[in-house]
Amino acid sequence: MKNRKDFVPDPNLFTKDLDGLSLKMLEAHYKLYEGYVKKTNEIQAAFDAADKSAANGIYSPVGELKRQETFAVNGMKLHEVYFGHLQGDGKPSGDLVGMIEKDFGSIDGWKEEMLAVGMSSRGWAILAFDYRDNRLHVYGSDAHNIGAVWAAIPVIVLDVYEHAYAMDYGISRKAYIDSFFKNLDWTFAGKIVSQFELTKYYGK
Ligand SMILES: [Fe+2]
Repeated sequence: MKNRKDFVPDPNLFTKDLDGLSLKMLEAHYKLYEGYVKKTNEIQAAFDAADKSAANGIYSPVGELKRQETFAVNGMKLHEVYFGHLQGDGKPSGDLVGMIEKDFGSIDGWKEEMLAVGMSSRGWAILAFDYRDNRLHVYGSDAHNIGAVWAAIPVIVLDVYEHAYAMDYGISRKAYIDSFFKNLDWTFAGKIVSQFELTKYYGK
């Protein structure tokens, strides 16, 4: 791979408790995210140095590096959206509100779907815009690299791994998901909508 760049996490993202999410838990969780960034860099550098002529479907260093790369890269990207939109006031705002109303009927209808996917998935519930049918979907994912959908842009990302809530909530995942919605920064999600110019699919 030419022109490889190391990814760098944003330091000191959290400085205080959020509503229902302790700083202690957020900092511990953020350390896991930093691990995904570090391992993404490590895997991609190792692949560059690995012997491509030894590629083998049963076992080979390049094969294993590529298997773990999707886990590390998706772990990095999904956490970046999750942490990025976790310091807001939870009030739905911006063009995304109308987009959700069109595709799910109402914000409450979408939240109900997001909650159901969050309660039944083992890793993630993801509101994503899918270019296949030009609309929003809630996709579930059981691991960073299981359930990923090609050509779909994550707009709102809910982490439902136990590490995201067990320190504060034990096994009460639903209470944690309620806190997630309370802290959701719709402005951050709106920046993703703008970045990919998604409103043009909604007549704007
Ligand atoms: Fe996580």
